[in-house]
Amino acid sequence: MPNFKVASKPESPYVHCLAPRERLSIEAIVDELLHNFGSVETAEFADACSLSAQQLPRRLRELAHRFKYMHLQCGAVLLRGIAVDDHRIGPSPQHWDAPWRNPPTLREEVTQCLLSAVLGDIFGWRTQENGRFLRHIVPVLKESEEQLGGGSSVTLVWHNEEAFHECRGDFLSILCYRNDEQAQTILSYVGDIAIPDEKWAILAAPRYTIRPDKSHFPDQNVSAHWRLDDHAFARIQCMYADPQPVPVLSGSREKPFIQVDEAFMCAIEGDAEAAEAFDWLLRQFDDKKNSIVMQPGDMLWIDNKRAVHGRSVYLPHYGPRQRWLRRVNVTLNLRASLPYRESALSRHIV
Ligand SMILES: [Fe+2]
Repeated sequence: MPNFKVASKPESPYVHCLAPRERLSIEAIVDELLHNFGSVETAEFADACSLSAQQLPRRLRELAHRFKYMHLQCGAVLLRGIAVDDHRIGPSPQHWDAPWRNPPTLREEVTQCLLSAVLGDIFGWRTQENGRFLRHIVPVLKESEEQLGGGSSVTLVWHNEEAFHECRGDFLSILCYRNDEQAQTILSYVGDIAIPDEKWAILAAPRYTIRPDKSHFPDQNVSAHWRLDDHAFARIQCMYADPQPVPVLSGSREKPFIQVDEAFMCAIEGDAEAAEAFDWLLRQFDDKKNSIVMQPGDMLWIDNKRAVHGRSVYLPHYGPRQRWLRRVNVTLNLRASLPYRESALSRHIV
């Protein structure tokens, strides 16, 4: 059995370059999935992907296993050398609202879903692009100052994906198609931070609220390809109007989980001590920050409960070569979200 190095000092992300043999194995499984599916955006595909991930080379499955169960001292793994065909994928889309059907990126999409499903089950949010598993992250001029994937002229501040929601993903994957602008993806890992007792006592208490981020609201979901009625946003509206108190830290002292969204989270009104502790934690994330300039074919597995992520300011090359990343959410416990889904077969949280 191959042994993976467990770093004696914090190492984030852990880097794994795919070996030629691993690439061939991945491509054979991708071919099989492509033979049966013309889109990744169905529950049937997601189920097939979970099963196919069990055929991935043992070394990759072992890496995923060690990452999932926190044997590696890092909040992210960088897989390098994933096949991205710059010519075939065509020009970068100018908006996240790209067509769902017959995408030129289908092979890359299947590959990313497969390499995400080795961590758990992929899923989507009905209130975010109608449940699309694979989001496009591209710069959008009119969103340049927003805390959204389309932003660029402001730092995308520290967050966990869907920090506001109890069914937030355990992991996310980000695959880079293009990054000519050399934008930096930033990461920080709670395992790198020494948390004193007095800070733990405050941060592990439900003294904070988090509101849903803008991507889950109707005005960010206007699409030429589908239409969502207002009913779909009812729960989100409640979470916005009446956010319930939550802690920032939970679980074990040794390996705490985090629930952070710098832009949409605050201490309960009047709780200056909680506000100060949260600010302290954010500055710790700054101090331990890792910056990665993702290259085409780089894929990050990010532990959404142990690491925060964001993006540096950058100057987009608006146009056909603009920065283009894809993102997928992964859960370790699909069963837990059943009350939020239409059925056990659905992969969309409403
Ligand atoms: Fe994010």
